Amino acid sequence: MLNAPNNVVEVKHPLLQHKLSLMRDKKTRSVIFRALMKEAGMILGVEATKELKSYEKNISTPLEDMSATFLKEPEPAVVSILRAGNGLLEGLLQILPSAAVGFLGMSRDHDTLKPIDYYQNLPANMADRSVIIVDPMLATAGSGIEATRLVKDAGATTITFVCLLAAPEGIKKFNESHPDVRLVTGSIDRQLNEKGYILPGLGDAGDRIYGT
Ligand code: PRP
Ligand code: URA
Repeated sequence: MLNAPNNVVEVKHPLLQHKLSLMRDKKTRSVIFRALMKEAGMILGVEATKELKSYEKNISTPLEDMSATFLKEPEPAVVSILRAGNGLLEGLLQILPSAAVGFLGMSRDHDTLKPIDYYQNLPANMADRSVIIVDPMLATAGSGIEATRLVKDAGATTITFVCLLAAPEGIKKFNESHPDVRLVTGSIDRQLNEKGYILPGLGDAGDRIYGT
């Protein structure tokens, strides 16, 4: 059992937990799994965006003037770790439709479990944006650590990493590498198996989203 550090948030909202339970069930098919991933992305996104900076501006409602709250510009960036990150990205974009979007192509070598970078496309002005990195699975954390390094190299300093499931081993490693990054997850699961899969987990997230 992990004593989660302060910058790790496990979202225990019953709606999210209900959706997660459906996703864990091996009988849940891709079309439903994908829809649930998007909905989970919306709920996780609400927690992930909790600390976005805002400002006050005077507006007039039909009844009176008031000081109203707006999000500061530039818009946040959501960075998806391909492929499976795109499942959560859909949900994030529902609540942050004007976010800038970046992609980092990364696949985990089945033998070494190390991430292999194959594509990078990040928005401009990363230093000025709040950045939310999305990937449903933080297992050994190799992919998450590397993606966060690339985002920092592009200038970002305010970063939140969002995943649906995290293994205690991965959280520990991620935190050692990036103690300044807030981690939002739907569940801290029990452990990794010998092949680097999260237990009890939900299997291979990319395969389950895209039916491969
Ligand atoms: C999965 C997942 C993460 C990574 C997590 O991607 O989406 O990116 O594994 O494992 P780690 O924490 O041990 O690095 P995968 O490499 O299977 O690629 P895919 O999204 O294209 O299926
Ligand atoms: N990647 C996945 O998709 N699932 C796991 O359990 C671990 C890594």
